[in-house]
Amino acid sequence: MATIPASEIPLEEIDLGDMSLWEEGPPHEIFDRLRAEAPVHWSPMATWEDEPGFWSITRPEDIHAISRDWETYSSERGGMLIADQSVPLEVQNSMFIGMDPPRHDRIKAIFQRGFTPKRIGEHEEAIRQIAREKFDLLEGREEAELVAEIAQPVVARVIGSFMGTPPEDDGHWADLALRGLAVGNDELQPGGENVATVERVLMEAMELAAERRERPTDDLTSLLVHTEVDGEQLSDLEVAAGFALLVAAGMDSTKATYSNGMVALLKNPGEHQKLVDDPSLIPGAVEEFLRMHPAFLNFRRTATRDVELHGQTIREGDKVIMWYPASNRDEKIYECPHQLKVERNPEHQAFGAGGRHFCLGTALARLELTVLFEETLGRYPEMELKAEPEALPSLFTNQVKAIEVELGPRAA
Ligand code: HEM
Repeated sequence: MATIPASEIPLEEIDLGDMSLWEEGPPHEIFDRLRAEAPVHWSPMATWEDEPGFWSITRPEDIHAISRDWETYSSERGGMLIADQSVPLEVQNSMFIGMDPPRHDRIKAIFQRGFTPKRIGEHEEAIRQIAREKFDLLEGREEAELVAEIAQPVVARVIGSFMGTPPEDDGHWADLALRGLAVGNDELQPGGENVATVERVLMEAMELAAERRERPTDDLTSLLVHTEVDGEQLSDLEVAAGFALLVAAGMDSTKATYSNGMVALLKNPGEHQKLVDDPSLIPGAVEEFLRMHPAFLNFRRTATRDVELHGQTIREGDKVIMWYPASNRDEKIYECPHQLKVERNPEHQAFGAGGRHFCLGTALARLELTVLFEETLGRYPEMELKAEPEALPSLFTNQVKAIEVELGPRAA
């Protein structure tokens, strides 16, 4: 299939589960066609062994409606990941992202208190300090690799400080999160194999939870251990899976958005210069990076009954995949949707489209990203790409493998 240009593959032959379509990142040409011509489209996942196909939803109004209708489109029944085999359903169902109400709402409410913009705002200086420390390590250098030297260590320390894990474990957790979420990437999940990573995360999270049960602190791991729903504590699996959810969601998300945002800026010198000249544009530009490069490409729902949508019959039990890179580039909403405009300050669906599963970490992600871009552009305003960055193909996370840059002179 990969030999035919994306614009010419007949609609009924498009299989978004085919990794050859993802080698250079999300196949936007295909998404444009699906949004216009086949807004409910079937991909058989024919290149996967024993993996059912899925319906692709690409229009923002449909994703909006599906995200709000949990009774028809469940997060619990089949989990929230595109491939059944990437994380066992029992583990997904032990995270509140993989639960339906009422249990979902009760657990989420406990975490929401700590994630309001006001509470998160209290962490700004600490986050800036973390970013500065990582940049200080580049002092005296002419070149750097932004993913491994900035994006990953900064986000790993921020989420590590929330979870209460020590700095020396940051690289380890970052590696596990990357492996765990790179659904469809043959290097990181050979043959779709992810069970060993998932088991390892859960085992290590349980050890940490046991420590916090003995000696509670004010970190989120202690909060998980002591969370009670209807008078009962969470099970060991729910604590461990909850830990994995927060680490993974908090790590790979901001890392992906910073990385893609930096690539976009370095490839658009005019837009880059606007932010260097006027850093007050950065928070709005962050929304534009989120729109163009949503960190998670999709979340999945499972139909709880037969439904008709745009002339297709979605059967009970079918996978329904909401593609944010498609909905965020709808030409009916955005002028020149494939073009970076740092002053656009758009609304978008990168954090989900409302409803109960709307991202818990929006305030933290926005703050971290704003600080990261401020520190990067403030310190190295003349940074340039040294080589073409490589995408990290996956059906779930929108990561960049490496960004080699010339740092340029350090600002006074
Ligand atoms: C660029 C950054 C981020 C993006 C694009 C993002 C995206 C998303 C999306 C699309 C969902 C919806 C899932 C669904 O509908 O099934 C979600 C949920 C979630 N996110 Fe984020 N996220 C980001 C950062 C974070 C951060 C920093 C955290 C912090 C710990 C976090 C924690 C969560 C959690 C716990 C959920 C589950 C919420 C629920 O099920 O009610 N996210 N995120």
